[in-house]
Amino acid sequence: MSEAVKINVGCGLDYRPGFVNVDGNPDLPRVDKVIDFDSDRLSAHFAPDSVDLVMANDFIEHHVHWHAVKLLKDFFLVLKPGGGLSMQLPDVETIMAATSIPVETRIFLLYGGQDFYLGEENPEHRKRFPHYHCHKFGYTRGTMTRELEAIGFVDVESWGKKTDFVIFAKKP
Ligand SMILES: C[S@@+](CC[C@H](N)C(=O)[O-])C[C@H]1O[C@@H](n2cnc3c(N)ncnc32)[C@H](O)[C@@H]1O
Repeated sequence: MSEAVKINVGCGLDYRPGFVNVDGNPDLPRVDKVIDFDSDRLSAHFAPDSVDLVMANDFIEHHVHWHAVKLLKDFFLVLKPGGGLSMQLPDVETIMAATSIPVETRIFLLYGGQDFYLGEENPEHRKRFPHYHCHKFGYTRGTMTRELEAIGFVDVESWGKKTDFVIFAKKP
């Protein structure tokens, strides 16, 4: 039996053995495939109906809403029937309601780490990837469930994880 094809989209520093680890940042210590999702897409590298699992943790919120929908539709395209999409995202509803968390922390959770990876002291990184660590839209478990169902995903399940949520869906 052939091995399952699993893709870790926007892997960052979370390199996963057994996955094709994809990111737009070629300076990461480990990355299998460099893809800039602003100008490229997964289906240019993987055939339709060929992937068992797309994982995209803390990634979709780094894109404006209409582009995020395009990316989710592209994930759907490359997944095999029965294949799964697994994502983690900041939970905007939880973050906004969490008034016990200092507002500076909640701003960071909503708007992203900005220069988180290589820091302000690396102006070259900031020039090359000015937007990679900024959040451009936000979701709740409910809004993302509706986004995925509108695309055709089924069996959507989500659960809260501190100020994030995890969501899993299948291609029928
Ligand atoms: C917040 S990090 C998440 C990293 C990892 N998935 C994790 O959970 O630890 C977001 C990652 O998405 C990548 N990224 C953001 N926008 C991208 C884009 N347009 N194309 C390719 N990668 C992008 C960044 O380089 C970064 O590694």
